[in-house]
Amino acid sequence: LFGAFGSELKMHTYVVGGFVRDLLLNLENYDIDIVVEGDANKYGKYVAEQLMIKYIPHKKFNTCSLYFKDGFRIDVATARTEYYEAPAELPKVEVSTIKKDLYRRDFSINTMAIRINQETFGMLLDFFTSKSDLENKIIRTLYPLSFVEDPTRILRAIRFEQRYGFKINKQTEDYLRRTVEGNYLEKVTGPRLREEIEKILKEPNPLKAIKRMGEFKIITHLFPYTYYTPTLEKDVEKLFEYYEIIKHKAPIYTYKVRKLHLLFYILLQYTPNNSLKEIQQRYGLPGEFFEKLDQAKKAYQTINEQKEISNSKYYEILCTFNNEQIIYTGIKVSDNKKQEYTDYLNKVKEIKLKTTGKDLKEKGYKGRQIKEKLEELKKLRLDEKITPDQEKNYI
Ligand code: CTP
Repeated sequence: LFGAFGSELKMHTYVVGGFVRDLLLNLENYDIDIVVEGDANKYGKYVAEQLMIKYIPHKKFNTCSLYFKDGFRIDVATARTEYYEAPAELPKVEVSTIKKDLYRRDFSINTMAIRINQETFGMLLDFFTSKSDLENKIIRTLYPLSFVEDPTRILRAIRFEQRYGFKINKQTEDYLRRTVEGNYLEKVTGPRLREEIEKILKEPNPLKAIKRMGEFKIITHLFPYTYYTPTLEKDVEKLFEYYEIIKHKAPIYTYKVRKLHLLFYILLQYTPNNSLKEIQQRYGLPGEFFEKLDQAKKAYQTINEQKEISNSKYYEILCTFNNEQIIYTGIKVSDNKKQEYTDYLNKVKEIKLKTTGKDLKEKGYKGRQIKEKLEELKKLRLDEKITPDQEKNYI
């Protein structure tokens, strides 16, 4: 259908990029990118009218998005035409247009296109040995300056490598390393980098990708005071391990937790205080992000220093923490206390006081006193010094 609309407008029409890659890998992908040799907005508008669907143009980029009623989206772009040659040589020009468009993309595996005009429906365009790279499981850039032009591709290379179990080829690895060493990651805005790291964290195997980022010294170029040592790597491993434990054993604590924040806590735990502000601004981290990290550091130190800790003591240390602080502390708590720590987390959620603020008010307690009394009762209950029925003896 989309090809037929293209034909009606006399535009060659292709599905390109990730969709084609995953189609050949037999994997599901519902992100459809269409490229037309012609005006993408004209095409989008026409399709929207024919199908009576929503169409949003992005004139600045000469692209548009089509939205189906069920939320399904298709993005349409214009094949870059600045390389048009003489109009007389039509066949050459038309191929060259889509070819140039594909050539400026990131990796060979993402540079295939399938023609969807009826006459030539299903014709696969593979100019850059994409298919063979897919078969040989290779991530390869098409031109030496690819990473320099768009350094976020450094993180994309690692993401695709881990996602598909592919390998960045030797030449591409050299380009990648040189771009990292040339401080090109430093030129990218914080939010773009953050977005790429978040995408890595959404992949099924983020740990391996982070390790690879360490290996390529990318981490030090993202955070200038972070050296990816074996000790730090151990902490990164613990992060993923402990997150899984919490997800299974105390899932309520994963509510509103962003893995990115946890990872940043781990990677920035040894950064000197006077550079944290800059990092916070660069990556757009929430206010008090590092104050919270500092509190959590103090918490795990206290916990690890003590031989035995009662539940009420855990409560004193942790009661003001948000879930990200709770999990970070759990990661850093020494192994012999981890189980106890996780048990505490469950216990504190289970305990429901019989006494309410209203009961205390009726007994003459006021303001702060109420809060303090409730906390006192909670601690007594946590240490199982009293039963719910005995609460009334303490007020
Ligand atoms: N692309 C690129 N350089 C980038 C980002 C994207 O060349 N820095 C190109 C690639 O050809 C890619 C296409 O734009 O296939 C679409 O990008 P995107 O949707 O981000 O990636 P996908 O390949 O679809 O990957 P994913 O499965 O992660 O969505």
